Amino acid sequence: MSNANTMTTVLKTEGLNKVYTLGGIVTRTRINALDDVNLDIKSDRPVIISLVGESGSGKTTLAKVILRLVEPTSGSAVVYDRVVAGAGAKQSKSEFLAAVQPIFQNPFEAFSAYRTVDAYLRTTAMRVQNLQGDATTEAMAQALTSVGLKYEDVRGKYPNQFSGGELQRVSIARALIPRPKIIVADEPVSMIDASLRMNIVNLFLSLKEQYNTSFLYMTHDLATAYYISDYLAVMYRGAIVEFGSAREILTSPKHPYTQLLLDSIPHTNHKWTRGTFTMSDIETKEYRFGGCKFRNRCPLAQEVCTRERPQAMRKDDGREVYCHFA
Ligand SMILES: Nc1ncnc2c1ncn2[C@@H]1O[C@H](COP(=O)(O)OP(=O)(O)OP(=O)(O)O)[C@@H](O)[C@H]1O
Ligand SMILES: [Mg+2]
Repeated sequence: MSNANTMTTVLKTEGLNKVYTLGGIVTRTRINALDDVNLDIKSDRPVIISLVGESGSGKTTLAKVILRLVEPTSGSAVVYDRVVAGAGAKQSKSEFLAAVQPIFQNPFEAFSAYRTVDAYLRTTAMRVQNLQGDATTEAMAQALTSVGLKYEDVRGKYPNQFSGGELQRVSIARALIPRPKIIVADEPVSMIDASLRMNIVNLFLSLKEQYNTSFLYMTHDLATAYYISDYLAVMYRGAIVEFGSAREILTSPKHPYTQLLLDSIPHTNHKWTRGTFTMSDIETKEYRFGGCKFRNRCPLAQEVCTRERPQAMRKDDGREVYCHFA
């Protein structure tokens, strides 16, 4: 299928760590929001990579590191040959944004309430693409058409004149204008009407082909991830527990945590519980566990799981499972 010569590194992280410190002098705790994350995805075609996990698993932290909004504590990350974290992450902002574009959870926060959205799109086209005059309008109109909107219907309107779903489409159009290599979408549909979610997610699938753009999709929603993903990484307390082809993981999960997640789908309407998330002390301790972080909830756990962090076991189908017993 793929020719080794034309393979590109879509995403590669090596020993990526991010430690947050919380609380005061007495109550100080450390949260390893990313704990030795090693991913290596090469492809000769655009791909959709989904990162799934419960609240607090580190999805947003990884998104922010890749978008260069957060500095990792250690380790490195490369996206389409651009070093985005670690030594060598020196590329200019505009060069970087031409290749890596974000879509955020709440489209109303992505736009200022006091500016028309087409003014935003125009600025993106001028700054990042260096376009002028008619060429800017053309780029905007084309991007809007790709997401199912018309330039005439968008022109002159402010964010509050759109529904959440429409505005998220506009923000996807904005992200497309620079013709990025990859779009990083952190929970892009979680605030959108359930009935419209699949439409937006399906759009990723068609844009992947039409624009040759890869997607990194962070989500709680296994159902949408299943439908659109080429690759899937399952995270728990800052660590990857299973990585591989989405189809294979979802049809035969190997890690006990992935199995638990899939089993819980029918009971929770395809989503994990969200909302205000407060962790018990035991849960925050899990971030710092030296061995396997999942051991307290794991039916397979043995003594070795307390002592040793499981390394990636590579299966025949290419997937990686971080478990001593799976
Ligand atoms: N700025 C911060 N300061 C302190 N701790 C943080 C900060 N950002 C994230 N964390 C902690 O890091 C851990 C991972 O958070 P992150 O937001 O990456 O998880 P997530 O998988 O995106 O969760 P959610 O599904 O709720 O969005 C959590 O325990 C969180 O409380
Ligand atoms: Mg998040």
